[in-house]
Amino acid sequence: MASTLVFLFSLLLLLLLPLPSFSQSCTSQTFSNNRLFATCNNLPHLSAALHWTYDAANSTLSVAFIAPPSRPGGWVAWALNPTGSGMVGAQAVVGLRQSSGGSLVAKTFNISAYGPVTPSRIAFETWELEAEEGAGGVMTVFATIKLPRGVTTMNQAWQVGPSSTGGLPDKHDFGVGNLNAKATLDVVSGQSSGGTDSRLKEKNIHGILNAVSWGILLPIGAIIARYLKAFKSLGSAWFYLHVVCQLTGYAVGVTGWAIGLNLGKKSKGIQYTTHRNLGIALFSLATLQITALFLRPKKDHKYRVYWNRYHQLVGMAVVILGIINVFRGLEILSPAHKWKDAYIVVLCVLGVIALMLEVTTCFIARRRKLDSSDSTKKYNGSGAANGQRGFQQPLSA
Ligand SMILES: *[C@@H]1O[C@H](CO)[C@@H](O)[C@H](O)[C@H]1NC(C)=O
Ligand SMILES: *[C@@H]1O[C@H](CO)[C@@H](O)[C@H](O)[C@H]1NC(C)=O
Ligand SMILES: *[C@@H]1O[C@H](CO)[C@@H](O)[C@H](O)[C@H]1NC(C)=O
Repeated sequence: MASTLVFLFSLLLLLLLPLPSFSQSCTSQTFSNNRLFATCNNLPHLSAALHWTYDAANSTLSVAFIAPPSRPGGWVAWALNPTGSGMVGAQAVVGLRQSSGGSLVAKTFNISAYGPVTPSRIAFETWELEAEEGAGGVMTVFATIKLPRGVTTMNQAWQVGPSSTGGLPDKHDFGVGNLNAKATLDVVSGQSSGGTDSRLKEKNIHGILNAVSWGILLPIGAIIARYLKAFKSLGSAWFYLHVVCQLTGYAVGVTGWAIGLNLGKKSKGIQYTTHRNLGIALFSLATLQITALFLRPKKDHKYRVYWNRYHQLVGMAVVILGIINVFRGLEILSPAHKWKDAYIVVLCVLGVIALMLEVTTCFIARRRKLDSSDSTKKYNGSGAANGQRGFQQPLSA
């Protein structure tokens, strides 16, 4: 138990460390036809960079946007957003394939809402649209854009996607990088800023609380209830451990859940329906478990057996749904792979422990059964000879 706790806390500490961010220098990037740009910026997400030259005399901006698509052969997009920030309102230039294996093109998109997009005129006059693919599938879109006279600072946004269908970009991922790929761009001073996720910390806290509670504490509590009961020498210690584990898990889990609901409310336009619904189902089932404690029949009541069955089934559902939802959350937050790997390791350790306990308790139960049938005279049908691992036995506390 102690070593498990130490393990959990070290996992927690690891999760609290800032996620490493990928960085490479845009100054080493070169383009075909000896195209040169006056300035470049490494953009803060999606390993993207923007190169540009701004001509103040006729307020034209030539840009090269370079990024790796989320999958080979996918698409990349860069946009100015004169009316807002992020995707809605974006006047985008998208580099994508006309058809699978077809030629690369750059097209403009006037994006007025979340959802499917179609090529359209944009608010700025644009020339010299081009897209090309470099080593390792990295894509570049080139464009020359006429900015409104006197406007030198604007919101920019960018995005990468996995594939395109019929010359239209398919939906991109909704990872932290994807959702935060936006910043301001000052074409004169050469600064681009912002782009950090103000809610990233909140999301990480939500993730940690829920992974530890629904994903780890509740399964441990279930293992305690299922197996430690069989060790008679421990007496009713299993019961108190189980209660402490599940109540702590519930309290931490509900806190994490509330943070999650709040995050959901704040992120307009993006919905993780399954994750949210699973979360609500989990909260309801877990609350039901707690409430049902007050309705628990006395241990020698004839309905106690059914209550125990119900308690185990709902408990099992909570554990399984909890683990599934932790994985869904990990997909959404998409932290470095090691976090998912770490959680898988925790689950494997718990699984191995459960398997070993399953074997041991089976063995104990068999021994007891043999003992009792050998000496029915001595143990004349008194509780201990039930043969089962004690699921249906009245709780001893
Ligand atoms: C803007 O001016 C530069 C030189 O001053 C010229 O090379 C470029 O073609 C002009 N662009 C437009 C769109 O007029
Ligand atoms: C872009 O779409 C918006 C909303 O549909 C529309 O009001 C705007 O006129 C469009 N811009 C251009 C350049 O077509
Ligand atoms: C077993 O218990 C029953 C009733 O509980 C009793 O009648 C019987 O005598 C007991 N047998 C032995 C061997 O103790």
